[in-house]
Amino acid sequence: MNNFVFKNSTELVFGKAVEEQVGEYTAEYGSKVLLHYGGGSIKKTGLYDRIIKSLQENKVDYVELGGVQANPRLSLVQEGIKLCHEENVDFILAVGGGSVIDSAKTIAVGAKYDGNVWDCFIGKGSITDMIPLGVVLTIPAAGSETSDSAVITNEEGWLKRPIGHPMMRPVFALLNPELTYTLPDYQTACGVSDMLAHTMERYFTNTPNVDLTDRLCEATMRSIIEQGPKVLENPKDYAARAEIMLAGTVAHNNSLDMGRETDWASHDIEHELSGIYDLAHGAGLSIVFPAWMKYVYKVNKPRFEQFAYRVFGIEPQFDGSDASIIKGIKALENFYVSMGLPIRLEDADIRDDRYEEMAKKATNNDTRTLGHFKPLDSKDIHEIYKLCAMSKKW
Ligand code: NZQ
Ligand code: ZN
Repeated sequence: MNNFVFKNSTELVFGKAVEEQVGEYTAEYGSKVLLHYGGGSIKKTGLYDRIIKSLQENKVDYVELGGVQANPRLSLVQEGIKLCHEENVDFILAVGGGSVIDSAKTIAVGAKYDGNVWDCFIGKGSITDMIPLGVVLTIPAAGSETSDSAVITNEEGWLKRPIGHPMMRPVFALLNPELTYTLPDYQTACGVSDMLAHTMERYFTNTPNVDLTDRLCEATMRSIIEQGPKVLENPKDYAARAEIMLAGTVAHNNSLDMGRETDWASHDIEHELSGIYDLAHGAGLSIVFPAWMKYVYKVNKPRFEQFAYRVFGIEPQFDGSDASIIKGIKALENFYVSMGLPIRLEDADIRDDRYEEMAKKATNNDTRTLGHFKPLDSKDIHEIYKLCAMSKKW
């Protein structure tokens, strides 16, 4: 096990009706709030009205900025920064999913940054201060409600890039599983795929002697795989929605990576897809992750055998073959298919070959490699995109 520091400062408030406390929580931190939200789901569900009521009851003054798109854009972030300056905003309240939260985090950072906030995404500037922010979560997926990072798409060149800093964790996150009842099946499934991917990015490591976190990851994956279909079967199954919502947070709050090197190549490879094709991040991951596995498993076969056995119950063969590993990867693909997710590019209607361009973009024109399990250069990444298009008979 590696040395590590663990600190997650977000106050997590979980359960039925917790969003009704939003005014009280917000009043603790700010007097002029930017209410940030997405394309309208919170208005349709009535959540918007309840949030406003709670803010008003607690005498919190607010301005608002809606319209965050999935794969959130830099241009709206710039608008938000301007609004914060004009209105002397001292707190940001994000009501929505990962896209809204990431947009809010970047506005919060940008409002205190002297220059173009994009600098912080490309290594030209660093984060030294930010406006604090809180969250009411409406989709369990990205884990941004307690994570220390944000991912934004710059329309100039369609570059989707992350930033991170410990101070970027929200000060509070209110999670009511009932708010997720209205999610379309596809969004629920994309969320499940993302949280599974966050666990796998941590699980596939070469760090030795990490038994406890291995088993925490395996338990998280098994729970997601068991509860995901239940949520699709009955979208108002509170127990299953609660398990999935908690799993989304646990998968990305850094408790699963204590003492282990993590990978993140699949995420970086996926970000090129959702950046260019505006695909849902979870749908990109259900295509990329199996392809990544096929490309890298030979680096550490025992780890992949362990994954197949402990997550999907596939017995190791002990015959020197890769049979159980391949069965494990296929079991993962079958799970994605059962959730209605794409597992090949053509399933997501991506038929053109921009693999070389995406591989170059992902490596910043061959100036970096991706991942740690097997560091990947642009040629490797090109091969992985090809595997994303391979026959399903594999
Ligand atoms: O915009 P509205 O109308 O609200 O609709 C949203 C959106 O269309 C809808 N939705 C959300 N809650 C709903 C709902 N519809 C009905 N009922 C509800 N309760 O769902 C759609 C997707 O929302 P989005 O916020 O885009 O989903 P998600 O939470 O999956 O976020 C994805 C973004 O997070 C980034 C991804 O790259 C992607 O851009 N990530 C952020 C991370 C982080 N900051 O730590 C880590 C992740 O790996 C990820 O990269
Ligand atoms: Zn993700």
